[in-house]
Amino acid sequence: MSFWQQLPNPFFVLAPMDDVTDAVFRQIVARAAAPDVLFTEFVSIDGLQSPGREATLKRLRIEPGLQQPLVAQIWGMDPDRYYKSAQDIAALGFAGIDINLGCPERGIVARGCCGGMIGHDHQVAEIVAAIKAGAPGLPLSIKTRIGLNTIITEEWAGFLLTQDLAALTIHGRTVREMSRVPARWDEIAKVVALRDQIAPQTVIIGNGDVQNRTHGLQLAAETGVDGIMIGRGIFHDIYAFAHESAEHPPAAHLELLRHHLDLYEQSPTKSFQPLKKFFKIYVHGWPGAAELRTKLMEATNPDEVRTILTHQVG
Ligand SMILES: Cc1cc2nc3c(=O)[nH]c(=O)nc-3n(C[C@H](O)[C@H](O)[C@H](O)COP(=O)(O)O)c2cc1C
Repeated sequence: MSFWQQLPNPFFVLAPMDDVTDAVFRQIVARAAAPDVLFTEFVSIDGLQSPGREATLKRLRIEPGLQQPLVAQIWGMDPDRYYKSAQDIAALGFAGIDINLGCPERGIVARGCCGGMIGHDHQVAEIVAAIKAGAPGLPLSIKTRIGLNTIITEEWAGFLLTQDLAALTIHGRTVREMSRVPARWDEIAKVVALRDQIAPQTVIIGNGDVQNRTHGLQLAAETGVDGIMIGRGIFHDIYAFAHESAEHPPAAHLELLRHHLDLYEQSPTKSFQPLKKFFKIYVHGWPGAAELRTKLMEATNPDEVRTILTHQVG
């Protein structure tokens, strides 16, 4: 029995988001209101098995003191590299491994990776076998969509459910749809019904357009999924996983921003510029927020941000 079987029902997961859910931001989300499970950003097995692997390994940093299971998500093509990457991930101490079979990025899909692998059953079965051989003790999960160009939910999930997975996340859109249409939770419900027939041991996680815990609880009740994954909802509400909906004053948001800066400075060096995309998460929705954000965007280092915040809130 893996950790996936020991979670609350329904449980809540922070979605993997490239360039967003790094170890620093995961700590902030967990501090604001913790999900039950977290994922890394997707990590290339080609990068991981290359001579310059140090850069890729930074994406597999496990935050200190983490209380919840953290799943490493990987992507690529070559079964042998999946095998070696699974060994690496087991050695690093992750709670589980997830295969990305959903990313719609054009270049990646054109190479037949991620979302481009949807419908390629034989190839996926080989990769699943390679990972299980590389990390026999770790639960394996897959995150995918309901089709590449057209909806093939039952055919595709029907195959995946024969792979003895610990968990299966279904993002209720096709690859071609990117994020342009509302997520189809009726398709996700079909996967739950299939799971009941084919693979009762596999937990099903629904994903797409969930705003917060209350919204997720409603969708879980409607569809029967075991878990709910929230991605962009966290941009609008950093407290999206909170059990009680409460008002969080601007000062609480700014405290999270300060903490983000502190953790950023303690983490392996990264450039300051990409940090700015987080400002909107902490500074929005109150009078003066837009003006403050404009000032923050002009900062060139964490200390300048701190100075602006000090003058702002005394
Ligand atoms: C900025 C960004 C980066 C993403 N990176 C990944 C990723 O690395 N791996 C993955 O499986 N999905 C990735 N996704 C997709 C999300 O995990 C999720 O499936 C999608 O955003 C739909 O859920 P949501 O409506 O709750 O955001 C990314 C999405 C966004 C917005």
